[in-house]
Amino acid sequence: MLLIFIASAVTFSAAEFSVFVPNGSVSERKGSSAVLPCGLTPALNAKMFDLRWYKNDYNNPVLLYKDLKVQENPGDAQYRGRVSLIGELDKGNVSLRLENLTLADGGEYVCFVKSDIWYEKASVNLIVRVLGSFPLFSLAEFGDQVNVSCASTGWSPKPTLTWRDKRGRELATSHIYYKTDSKGLVSVSSWLLLSPSESEWISCSVGLSDQEMKEGRVLPRKEIWREAFIATLVLSLFIVIILTALLLLVRKGLFPPRPSHKNTKEEETLPLTGPSEERLMMWRKLRKNKVKLTVDPETCKKPLTMKQDGASVYRGQLSKSDLFQSSSFPPALSKEGFSSGQTYWEVTVDQKENSKKSWCVGVTQKPPTEETLTALCYEEHCGIYPSTDPHTQIPAEGHVTTLGLILDFKHKTLSFINVDKESHLQTFRMNNMENSKYFALISPGMKDSYPVKFS
Ligand SMILES: *[C@@H]1O[C@H](CO)[C@@H](O)[C@H](O)[C@H]1NC(C)=O
Ligand SMILES: *[C@@H]1O[C@H](CO)[C@@H](O)[C@H](O)[C@H]1NC(C)=O
Ligand SMILES: *[C@@H]1O[C@H](CO)[C@@H](O)[C@H](O)[C@H]1NC(C)=O
Ligand SMILES: *[C@@H]1O[C@H](CO)[C@@H](O)[C@H](O)[C@H]1NC(C)=O
Repeated sequence: MLLIFIASAVTFSAAEFSVFVPNGSVSERKGSSAVLPCGLTPALNAKMFDLRWYKNDYNNPVLLYKDLKVQENPGDAQYRGRVSLIGELDKGNVSLRLENLTLADGGEYVCFVKSDIWYEKASVNLIVRVLGSFPLFSLAEFGDQVNVSCASTGWSPKPTLTWRDKRGRELATSHIYYKTDSKGLVSVSSWLLLSPSESEWISCSVGLSDQEMKEGRVLPRKEIWREAFIATLVLSLFIVIILTALLLLVRKGLFPPRPSHKNTKEEETLPLTGPSEERLMMWRKLRKNKVKLTVDPETCKKPLTMKQDGASVYRGQLSKSDLFQSSSFPPALSKEGFSSGQTYWEVTVDQKENSKKSWCVGVTQKPPTEETLTALCYEEHCGIYPSTDPHTQIPAEGHVTTLGLILDFKHKTLSFINVDKESHLQTFRMNNMENSKYFALISPGMKDSYPVKFS
C-alpha cells in the first residue's frame, strides 16, 4: 500500500506544476515590442503541453500552441503575425512576445498552460505608453492677476502635470482635470492664478516619467503694450538725462571714471568653463577656416522641409498628427561628420530681426539620441538655454541671429559664439568623445515656419 502511495505521489508531482509571472505588470511604448513573461515551476519541459495566451476571451486566443507547434490563425486577427513564443519551452519558459504595440493591446493577458492531467494560469497586465502633445497655453486677465492655463492631449496611461517656476520649484495647484477620449487617450489641463511678470516665466510639464515628459513655458504677462511702451519711453528719457549729466560731470573732472567691472561680471555669468576670452581668441583664429555645412536630406524628415540651397531647413505644413507626435525641436543633421581636430561653422537662426520663435543648434551622433545631443535652444519668452538643462537661461547680449560653433576634439569642448556681438555664449564639456563621430544639428522648432541655415 505504502509503495503504491509513494509511486503515485511521485508521478503526480512530476506532472503537476504552477504557472508564475515574475512581474504582474509590463509597460512599453506604443510601436515597440513587449515580452509578457510567464514560466512553469518546477521548470518542466512544456513542449508537449497546450499553451494558450488570451486577453478577454478564452476561445479567441492571442496565441495557441498545440500538437507541438504554434497554431496559425488561432483567434484574434488583431494579433496575427505579431506574436511569438520567445522562451525556452523545454525549460518551462512560455513567455509571449508581442510586436508593434498598439494602444488597443493594453490590458490583462492570461497565460494558460495545460498538460494531460493538469492546468494552471496566471495573468500579466500590459500597459502601452503613448506620449501626448506639447502643452499649449492660454492666458486671461483675472482682476490684477493672470489666469494661465495649460493643456496637453493624447497620453496613455494618465500623465502627471506639474507647474514650476523659473528656478524649477514646484507651484501647487488644485485645478487639474483629466479627460479620456473614445480611443482611450487621456488629455489633461490645469490653470493657475499668478501675478503678472515680464521676466519670470513658468513651465508646465506633462509626462509619464522624468524621461517621458513634454514641457512648455510661458510668461504670465498682461497685454499692456501701450502702458509698457509709455513707461519705457519715460524711463529712457530719464536715463538719457542722467547719463548726459554724468558725462558732463566726468568731463569736468568732478566725477572720476571708475574701472569697468565688465570682465569679472562676464566670468561669473559664464558657467562650465572659465575663460571666455580664450574661446574668443580661438574663434578669431578659426573663423577664417569656417566650413560651410550642408543638410543631409535623409535626416530632414517631416514636418521639416529643405530649401533648394541644401543648407536651410524650415518647418513645413503641419498635419494634425505632427502636432501630437513630434518633438518640439525636430532635428536635421549635416552631411559632414567630425571625429577629430577643431571645426568651426556658423548657423543663421534668425534672418529677420525677432521673427524666429524657437530654434535648437548643436551637435549629436547618428542617429540622434538624447545622450549624445549637446545644443543650445531658444524659445520666445524664455531665452536661450542648454538642451541639457532647460531651467538655466544663458545671458546673451541682445538678439542672437548668427551662432558660431567650435567643435574641439583636442579640448573635448563645444563652444557657442554670438557672431554679431562677437561674444562668447557657452562652452560645453563633452564626455566620451573618443572614437565617435559628431554631426551638426539644426532645428527650426515647431513654432513658426522661418528657416535656420548653415551659413
Ligand atoms: C516590475 O514592475 C515594476 C513596475 O511596473 C518595476 O518597477 C519593477 O522593476 C519590475 N520588476 C521586475 C523584476 O522586473
Ligand atoms: C512592425 O512594423 C514595421 C513598420 O511599421 C513593419 O516593417 C514590421 O513588419 C512590423 N512587424 C510585424 C511583426 O508586424
Ligand atoms: C523567458 O525567456 C525570456 C526571453 O529569453 C526572458 O526575457 C524571460 O525573463 C524568461 N522568463 C522566465 C519566467 O523565465
Ligand atoms: C481660468 O481659466 C480656465 C480656462 O482656461 C477656467 O476654466 C477657470 O475657471 C479660470 N479661473 C478663474 C478663476 O477664472
